[in-house]
Amino acid sequence: MNINSRIRQRRLEAVLNYDDARAAAQKRLPKAIFDYVDGGAEDEVTLRRNTKGFRDLSFEPKGATWIEQPDLKTNILGLELSMPVLTAPCGGMRLVHPEGDLGIAAAAAQAGIAHVATSASGYTLEEIAATPGPQWFQAYRFSNQEAMRSLVHRAKAAGFEGLVATIDTSVSGNREKDFRNGFSYDMRINLSNALRMAPQMLRRPEWVYRYMRDGMPFQLPNTADLTVDGKPMELTEMIRTGKDSHSPSWEDIAWMRANWDGPLIVKGILGTADALTAARLGADGIIVSNHGGRQLDGAPASIAVLPQIAAAVGDTVTVLLDSGIRRGSDVLKALSLGAKAVLVGRLPAWGLAVNGQAGVSHILEITRAEMIRTMRLLGCPSVQQLDPSWLSGHILAGADAP
Ligand code: GLV
Repeated sequence: MNINSRIRQRRLEAVLNYDDARAAAQKRLPKAIFDYVDGGAEDEVTLRRNTKGFRDLSFEPKGATWIEQPDLKTNILGLELSMPVLTAPCGGMRLVHPEGDLGIAAAAAQAGIAHVATSASGYTLEEIAATPGPQWFQAYRFSNQEAMRSLVHRAKAAGFEGLVATIDTSVSGNREKDFRNGFSYDMRINLSNALRMAPQMLRRPEWVYRYMRDGMPFQLPNTADLTVDGKPMELTEMIRTGKDSHSPSWEDIAWMRANWDGPLIVKGILGTADALTAARLGADGIIVSNHGGRQLDGAPASIAVLPQIAAAVGDTVTVLLDSGIRRGSDVLKALSLGAKAVLVGRLPAWGLAVNGQAGVSHILEITRAEMIRTMRLLGCPSVQQLDPSWLSGHILAGADAP
């Protein structure tokens, strides 16, 4: 092991949990990129609600029980997962680290779980699909319907097993930190960017070195062939203004159902009406999600609305959840309230920032270890047995927004 690998190894060993990984990532990333991953929309009320929602839930352990090896395995719409976790679709990961989505997908495969690839990746969806391991493709933010259809066809040809339609991004959330920081997927070090970015870049020489070695990727290749008004689509501009950002409509979801043979999952559900519409249109799964607090500020914590949504859809669709998962215990709380698995976004992103794919693996294994220990403390032998009885009763009634 050379000195650099040893330093990286030490750095990872010092990361014991989400907060450590976030703090280590903050030291390594330019502020604009850290804030892009970390931040939420407007006053970040929903962002805070997400984590508070989990903290406000209490377990009811079944004591005096010895569980040697709790069983975390599950099957989600044909995916055999070693634990009930998928890595969430997150834009901009190639800016966090050159290994980007490829590193996250590879770490997910190594952990025996699945990755959900974002449309807003710095790698082509074909490159991501070529990483071993099962993957779903998440479609959103097209310039128009034709662009959406072309992406869906490409995802099918590339071999993604499931299609995730995100419905909460008709316009981008109002992320004021990004505006202030001048965040852009285009971090080209040209003259105008250099002047604006210099102060934060100079403090992060290792990031700058890696970024330059990676060829300063600035395009989103899955959308780069698309044009708006005859010009290459500038996703940044689209996000900033909300212009031409086409999120799947119900009509698009019906089209996807007719044109996608594998599992179809609708992401961004926060109420029973939308959940039932997704089920009626033939979705196989839904993801209860407020986009990690990045879209509609004032939306409820996803964990707060999970129980009523899960009750409304029953067994007609598989219910997943994201937004606010920081610990293995949060995964178990979500499963107790009706989710079959969760998606984690910032968690692997911070691991990636600290040490690429190895960092993602590290944080996923921390999550697994936390789940195992919590299951043993609960006296619960299998994630299949999680239900509301593992949570304190008074909180259950409190599906009211934390
Ligand atoms: C992309 O969906 C983002 O939340 O930045």
